Amino acid sequence: MTSTPDPLHFPPRFAWGVATASYQIEGAPAEDGKGPSIWDTFSHTPGQVRGGDTGDVACDHYHRLEADLDLIQSLGVNAYRFSVAWPRLQPAGRGPVNQQGLDFYSRMVDGLLTRGITPWLTLYHWDLPQALQDQGGWPSRDTALAFGEYAALVAGALGDRVKHFITVNEPWVAAFLGHAVGIHAPGHTDLAESYAAAHHLLVGHGLAVQAVRAHAPGAQVGITLNLYEGYPATDTPEDRAATRRQDGFQNRWYLDPVFGRGYPQDIVELLGDASPQAQGLVLPGDVELMGVPTDFLGVNMYSRSVVEDAPGEGFLHSRAIQPQGSEYTGFGWEVAPQSLTDLMLRLQREYDPPAIYITENGATYPDTVNEDGTVQDADRTRYFQTHLGALEDAITQGAKVRGYFAWSLMDNFEWAEGYDKRFGLVYVDFGTQARTLKQSGRWYRDFLARTRKAVGA
Ligand code: FCB
Repeated sequence: MTSTPDPLHFPPRFAWGVATASYQIEGAPAEDGKGPSIWDTFSHTPGQVRGGDTGDVACDHYHRLEADLDLIQSLGVNAYRFSVAWPRLQPAGRGPVNQQGLDFYSRMVDGLLTRGITPWLTLYHWDLPQALQDQGGWPSRDTALAFGEYAALVAGALGDRVKHFITVNEPWVAAFLGHAVGIHAPGHTDLAESYAAAHHLLVGHGLAVQAVRAHAPGAQVGITLNLYEGYPATDTPEDRAATRRQDGFQNRWYLDPVFGRGYPQDIVELLGDASPQAQGLVLPGDVELMGVPTDFLGVNMYSRSVVEDAPGEGFLHSRAIQPQGSEYTGFGWEVAPQSLTDLMLRLQREYDPPAIYITENGATYPDTVNEDGTVQDADRTRYFQTHLGALEDAITQGAKVRGYFAWSLMDNFEWAEGYDKRFGLVYVDFGTQARTLKQSGRWYRDFLARTRKAVGA
């Protein structure tokens, strides 16, 4: 595997970007008519987020938009992925647009375009309007219908300038961590409910694709899934079968319906009463709706999963292990760049998406600011180098990867971990809001400058 990626091996017009999400950076939770989201509620519930942190201020991005746009531009990226906070646009989740909320995103889009940066807009990155949660949230089909209406509203208002839309970010996380494990908003712990939520997130995705097609003609639209390539802990039939089950739970449960195949039968059977079928939630036409053709597949990739057979454990009878001798990030996630190559080639082989975009990839490490004010994050820099090298390998072997977004532009509110886990190319001092480009950010900037030079742009 190449450890220093060669700019020339990436296709022309490759999207080189950085990514963020509304609740993680914006702050201003009740300004200009914004309604509360489930993450406002959850982070304000004692004991839910490490250290009692909330997104009330976060990176104060709502008030620092212009300066942050300059920061993004200084990296030399040609694309920026952000998400729209649904309750800024529809404070109660439905109804007419809140103009002040829309103005913020409109200014952002104009500011990006002026700077020569292509906006990539995520419609849902987990900050559901609390009012919709109060009416049942994602486990209720009505939320999917409301999401379709919201998508139509955003596409209609911004689709003259935004040409790339991502419907839902990581339905697995929103459904499973939010409704079965309970460590994300809304903090429920019910397996059946989590599969009801997952089903409606996918139905909502289908409705949003249709809405974007109708209201932003010519725009590209897709979904972002968090995928982990699986490897058996030992080469036994038991561990191989366990790896297949884990893959069904984590990957195929979302890939199969999005590519029009409906749900994987092996997992439907393992779920039993908790499956959306057994709950009577899969209505006629849903398979087609979830599988409505898209323009690209967005992939968030951080690590791989190594799996062993574990009879009696959960409904999957399997367990993910942390192999000894591997390198781990500050989250305890294994650093596994080769799995990115394997994942891309496997997606191309088994699902043949028209295009793949890495919509997130990155690592958290405990950063420190040196006396001279620099942040020397050698581990993170190496993480980006090796993963881009792995991506380059996948591209040279035929994967149709068309873009890459580093997670994240800057340190931010890392959900259940609060401000404890830093993922940024830019260091944020949350006391002063000072931003400092880390070594990894310099490396990315210099790599992009070499890339532009190589392609003569
Ligand atoms: C992903 C999320 C993103 C960020 C990274 C570290 O699951 O989409 O918001 O928290 O993990």
